[in-house]
Parts: sequence; C-alpha cells; structure tokens
Amino acid sequence: MRVVISGDSTLPRVLSGIQPTGEPHLGNLLGALRYWVEDQSRGDCFYCVVDLHGLTVAGDASERRTASITMATLLLAAGLDPDVCTLFLQSHVPAHSQLAWIMECTASYGELSRMTQFKDKTAKGGEQASRVGLFTYPCLMAADILAYDADRVPVGDDQRQHLELARDLAQRFNTTYGDTFVVPEAAIAPPGRGARIMNLQDPTRKMSKTTDNPGGVVGLFDSPGDIERKIKRAVTDTEAGPGALRYDRETKPGVSNLLELLGTLRGNDPETVALDYTRYGDLKADVASAVLEVVEPIQQRFREISKDPDYVADVLRSGARSANKVASATLRRAYRAVGLVAAGGTDAIRW
Ligand code: AMP
Ligand code: TRP
Repeated sequence: MRVVISGDSTLPRVLSGIQPTGEPHLGNLLGALRYWVEDQSRGDCFYCVVDLHGLTVAGDASERRTASITMATLLLAAGLDPDVCTLFLQSHVPAHSQLAWIMECTASYGELSRMTQFKDKTAKGGEQASRVGLFTYPCLMAADILAYDADRVPVGDDQRQHLELARDLAQRFNTTYGDTFVVPEAAIAPPGRGARIMNLQDPTRKMSKTTDNPGGVVGLFDSPGDIERKIKRAVTDTEAGPGALRYDRETKPGVSNLLELLGTLRGNDPETVALDYTRYGDLKADVASAVLEVVEPIQQRFREISKDPDYVADVLRSGARSANKVASATLRRAYRAVGLVAAGGTDAIRW
C-alpha cells in the first residue's frame, strides 16, 4: 500500500538522515550526501539532521546545539535546495520518538543484539555501561524512515543492516496489524563507487566521525592544505614495478581506497582509473585535486550561508512544518492499527 499524504504521488518518497555530532567527512559526502542532492530532482525528499540519535553518546549541550545548526548549514552548502526538498531537525517532529516506541514494541531483543554498529560502539566501554538508547537506536531509525512512507533510503554501506531491520519491522507490523507502512529500499552506491570510504591511515577501517585515527579522515571543514597533506600521507604499500598500482581491496586496501575515491569523484570505476597510473605519488596528487575541487566550493557556500543564521532557521522551521504533517498522519495510522484509541474518540467504546 502506498499512502500519499502530500507531495507528488508520481515521485518516489526519499528519506535519509545524518548525525550532527562529530566532524562530517568525505565518506559522508561520497557515500550519502551527493545522492541526497541527486535525488532531490527525481524524488519527494525528506532529509533530517538526526539530533535525537546524537543523544545515544555523551556530549556537551551547547556543542550539540551548534553541531545541529552547523550540519543543517553544511547540507545546504552541499547542495540541498529547500525549494525542492524538505530539510529539518529530527527533534522538531515528535512523531519520530512516538513511532520509535511502536518499533521497540515490534522489534525483538535478539535482533537488536545482533546489530554490528551496537557491538562496535560498545566494544570499548562495554555493553553494560552503554546507554539503552544506543541499543534501541535502530528502532528510532526505523521510525524515521517509516514515518515518511519512504520508498528509498540513500545511505552508505555501513547502514545496510539497519535498513534490513527497518524493512523487517515494517513487514512484521503489516502482517500483524494490517498494511500500514511502506517497506523501504536501501539505496546504496554499488561496490567501488563510494559506498564505503576507508580511513586513509588505516584502510581496513571505514572513515568515521568517531575515530582514533583522525589523520586518516578528510574532514569537510579541513583546510585545503590539511586535505592535501592527509591525502599525500595516505598509507599505501611497498610493492613496486609494473602492475603494482591496481585495484584489489583485499591485498591492497590503501591504493584501492585512493582509486575508489578518484573513480567516485570522476564517475569511473576504480579498475579503469588504475590504468592511468604507474606511480602512487601521481595518483595521490590527482586524488587531492579532485577532492579539493568538490570540497572547496562547499566550504565557500558554507561560509556564505553561515552569515545568515535566520535563513537557516527559516528553512528548518518550514521543513519541520512539512515533515510534521506527513509523520503525524503516519503515526495516527499506526496508533489506530495497533488498537490505541484516538484522543476524544469514542468509536472503540461500544459495550
Ligand atoms: P553518520 O556519519 O554515521 O551520521 O552517517 C551519515 C551517512 O554517511 C550515512 O548514510 C552513512 O552510511 C554514510 N557514511 C558514513 N561513513 C561513511 C564512509 N566511510 N563511506 C561511505 N559512506 C559513509
Ligand atoms: N544511523 C544513520 C547513521 O549513523 C543515521 C540515520 C538515522 C539515518 N536515521 C536515519 C539514515 C534514517 C537514514 C535514514 O549514519
């Protein structure tokens, strides 16, 4: 069942989110944000800064406030156009949290325990000390998606398992209570095209906002000089001679990551890019200039938009208005389906 509440019914509904905490990086841009921008013109798109998800780990309140606004500004600088998509903060739409509870009552403890992101994030501090919100995080994420009847969810490869869970929960709910939710599809870049950008200093681990290895993370707010330096210092390997520069994720993760970066930016596959190079230094120089070519204009727009905080506030206010309309209608549908009595409604009282 496709229930269209507002917008253009012929366009696929798109929903995605990004956490405000931590430095946004090249992995975010290539694995997710550029698809958000592309989808704007061919979908009815809802994009949110998932500030509630940010509460699953410790953080300072005033830094959180700044980070949410900074992230929204960055999304505009990266090319989101509020005239064609809906941009909002997750906490401005209460239906996300309300529907998350319905999802928590649909998911099982066992399936949440299998989430690799939870296991990774609790590996250091231990599960016992972790916040319950970190454990139930995928239920809130499922709510984010299902609240908008999303057909398509553009994300990086690391979100594949969470998306699978959102689909399972939608299907289980529909089977139990009748058709209520649209079952979403993950939209993940094909392998080798930016779905999983790796840390330049440790190319066996993904580039991440929370990392022990910041030297390998190209931050979208890094200075051009720092970006160039980080790329030039990227770990490769010691193989030399003809054929050394090739794409092989298993045995040559460093070089392969650089080839993938350049290929993604140029719209080519990494194997083809490799044909043009024999020296690692030449490849790194071209990766650096290709990265700067996309990042510098974003930084420039970010500086401009930041001068007008009222504009960003207006975008978020009107985004929240549109998002609330859609999400609150879905929530009402879900409440009715599970048997919650509508406030002021007497239709269920017939004894
Ligand atoms: P997060 O930084 O976890 O809020 O992620 C925001 C979006 O960026 C999600 O769609 C992630 O899947 C995507 N993403 C995060 N890190 C990477 C990476 N290293 N490579 C590709 N996509 C990524
Ligand atoms: N979990 C996602 C991440 O860490 C962020 C996120 C929250 C999200 N809700 C979402 C992504 C809904 C897509 C759709 O990257």
